[in-house]
Amino acid sequence: MRIITSDRLLLRPWHEDDADFLLDMESRWEVVRFLGPNPTTLSTREQALASIRHRRGVDHQVYGIWAISTRDGQLVGNFALVPVPVSAGQSPGTPPEVEIGWHLHPDAWGNGYATEAARAVLDDAFAQGLTRIIAVTNTGNDASQAVCRRLGMTHLGRTTRYYDTTKELFEILPG
Ligand SMILES: CC(C)(COP(=O)(O)OP(=O)(O)OC[C@H]1O[C@@H](n2cnc3c(N)ncnc32)[C@H](O)[C@@H]1OP(=O)(O)O)[C@@H](O)C(=O)NCCC(=O)NCCS
Repeated sequence: MRIITSDRLLLRPWHEDDADFLLDMESRWEVVRFLGPNPTTLSTREQALASIRHRRGVDHQVYGIWAISTRDGQLVGNFALVPVPVSAGQSPGTPPEVEIGWHLHPDAWGNGYATEAARAVLDDAFAQGLTRIIAVTNTGNDASQAVCRRLGMTHLGRTTRYYDTTKELFEILPG
C-alpha cells in the first residue's frame, strides 16, 4: 500500500502498534456516530487489532484505508478511499463508484487535517485514473459536509442509492 504525504501529514498503513490510539479514537461515540450503517464503538484492544487487520487487508493499487499521522508521527485519524456499497435493488456502477471518508481523534479536530488529507488522497486518486469520487454523509453531519465543501465537492442532494439509507451526496471530478 502506498504512502501519501501532504505539507503536514503522512497517510500510511495501519500497524498493530496503533491499536491503543485506534481504541481511544473509536471508543468515542462522537467519532463513530456517523460511520457506516451500524455505528459501533470499539471497547477492547482485541477489537482494535481485528479492525487494524481488516484495514490492512484493503491492499489495492488505488483504494486504501490509511492511518493519518502528522509528519512527526503523531496519529490523528483514519482515511478511506473505497468502493461504496450500493443499496439493495440498485445496480452497481461500472466502474464501481468510489467514496472518500474520514474521521479524526477529537484532539485533532479544528486544524484542517481532514481537508488536507483528503486533498492529498484526491490528487493521488485522480492521478491514478479515477474519474469521479463521492462522499456520502448523514444529514446533520455538518462537520463532515463542511469538509466536502472545503474540498470543492458538489452537493447533489439526498439519495437512497447507498448503504440502504438516505444520505447527502457530494461528488468531485478531476481538474
Ligand atoms: C468530520 C471531521 C473529520 C471534521 O474535522 P475538522 O477538524 O472539523 O475538519 P478539518 O480537518 O477540515 O478542519 C477544519 C477546521 O480547522 C480549522 N483550521 C485550523 N487550522 C487550519 C489550517 N491550517 N488549515 C485549514 N483549516 C484549519 C478550520 O478553520 C476549521 O474550523 P471550523 O470548522 O471551526 O471553521 C471531524 O468532525 C470528525 O472526525 N467527526 C467524526 C467522524 C465523522 O463524522 N466522519 C465523517 C463520516 S461521513
